[in-house]
Amino acid sequence: MKIIVVGSGYVGLVTGACFAESGVNVVCVDVDAKKIQNLQNGVIPIYEPGLEELVVRNYEKKRLFFTTDISDGIEGVEVIFIAVGTPPGEDGSADMKHVLNVAKQIGQIITNHVVVVTKSTVPVGTSEKIRNTIQEELNKRKSNIKFDMASNPEFLKEGAAIEDFQKPERIVIGIDNEKTGEIMKRLYMPFVLNNHPILFMDIASAEITKYAANAMLATRISFINEIANLCDILGADINNVRKGIGSDSRIGSKFLYPGIGYGGSCFPKDVKALIKTAHDNGYELNVAKAVEQTNENQKNIIFNKMSEFFENNFKNKVIGMWGLSFKPKTDDIREASSLVLIEKLLLSGAKIKAYDPEAMQETKKLLGNKIEYAVDLYDAVNGVDAMALVTEWSEFHFPDLDLMSKIMKGKVIFDGRNIYDPVEIRKQGFVYFGIGRR
Ligand SMILES: NC(=O)c1ccc[n+]([C@@H]2O[C@H](COP(=O)([O-])OP(=O)(O)OC[C@H]3O[C@@H](n4cnc5c(N)ncnc54)[C@H](O)[C@@H]3O)[C@@H](O)[C@H]2O)c1
Repeated sequence: MKIIVVGSGYVGLVTGACFAESGVNVVCVDVDAKKIQNLQNGVIPIYEPGLEELVVRNYEKKRLFFTTDISDGIEGVEVIFIAVGTPPGEDGSADMKHVLNVAKQIGQIITNHVVVVTKSTVPVGTSEKIRNTIQEELNKRKSNIKFDMASNPEFLKEGAAIEDFQKPERIVIGIDNEKTGEIMKRLYMPFVLNNHPILFMDIASAEITKYAANAMLATRISFINEIANLCDILGADINNVRKGIGSDSRIGSKFLYPGIGYGGSCFPKDVKALIKTAHDNGYELNVAKAVEQTNENQKNIIFNKMSEFFENNFKNKVIGMWGLSFKPKTDDIREASSLVLIEKLLLSGAKIKAYDPEAMQETKKLLGNKIEYAVDLYDAVNGVDAMALVTEWSEFHFPDLDLMSKIMKGKVIFDGRNIYDPVEIRKQGFVYFGIGRR
């Protein structure tokens, strides 16, 4: 089988590499010529555990190809995945220009029947727009080539993307005819040998499922953050509350970790886009709106705690920051809470020394020398007035507190992810602030 995956970012590259690993011939396309050139040389543009090995192996086996020209591998292709970005537009709606550009190209180049699959997260009705765009181009060519549409939203998590793709809990596929379902089933068969289901449904339901899943997860995060803030006020410990509610099987314990708000390329934009879709259709998603507002507030929580501690005076203060990526095991800093904290601290006159195991290069591209980049976690806290733990990378879990006592100017820790034991930290003479922990 031969497929094309258009867009070689976090989703497209993982999709292409995993299908190639299952024996499919995959052509990965991207408009970014440098990215494609790097991939052809075995240089992976993103940090994603296990991805490099998969890409290099399948490229060498000639099951994986990289090109900037979508027409390069079109001969004999059965399925074309659209996995380009859908960033938020000015009004919060998902910006479909990349997706529709690809649709136009597809209409211009296909030579036989194909299934066009949207893997990008797109609002309800997008598949129809893609279908119309492709058909318009075919009409211009006076071509009667047939094609079908499918919606196959992606649920992978950055940092565990390969595992999620290869052993998905479920695969959602929106179709409007059986033949398309058969082709998609054949393609995905190697990934459901664990008996997890392929859920076939209509296209609109598949499109909404992706947004509803992300909005649900975001809701849990905002909910527990609000309860944590209440614990702070009332002198309770959110960790006890979290365990107390999480052990109820109706609730479960996943995604109930308080912190400094969700970020990343998906939750913020998808919650916004869902709110906008509903609004445009005359319905207000009040819960989702509150989730978003709570998250915006939560991104300020560490800064607010710091302001109180330093009595609003950040003059000559240096803050050591551990973690920049929006979550561990990725170099992705899109909508990361670290960026909000950095902006607020810089505006208040503080200086920042930051360390992240993977995301410093991405941060440098965005912030340049507005902050200082440390060589390791201890360098980041040498001589600082306080440390803020922003991303819970594994290497931050057991710091050498003796060493930190000696090198930090102010023995103050703001634990934005509640990874430390407050009792132990305070025993070592540190001032400790967590989220919702008395
Ligand atoms: N990142 C995630 O964890 C994740 C998870 C599930 C779903 N999604 C969704 O998948 C989609 C892609 O997300 P991503 O994180 O991979 O984005 P990304 O920004 O990492 O990658 C998108 C790629 O598409 C390329 N591109 C843009 N226009 C193109 C065109 N016309 N032709 C070819 N390539 C083009 C860009 O150069 C870029 O390399 C989004 O809709 C996103 O919401 C992302």
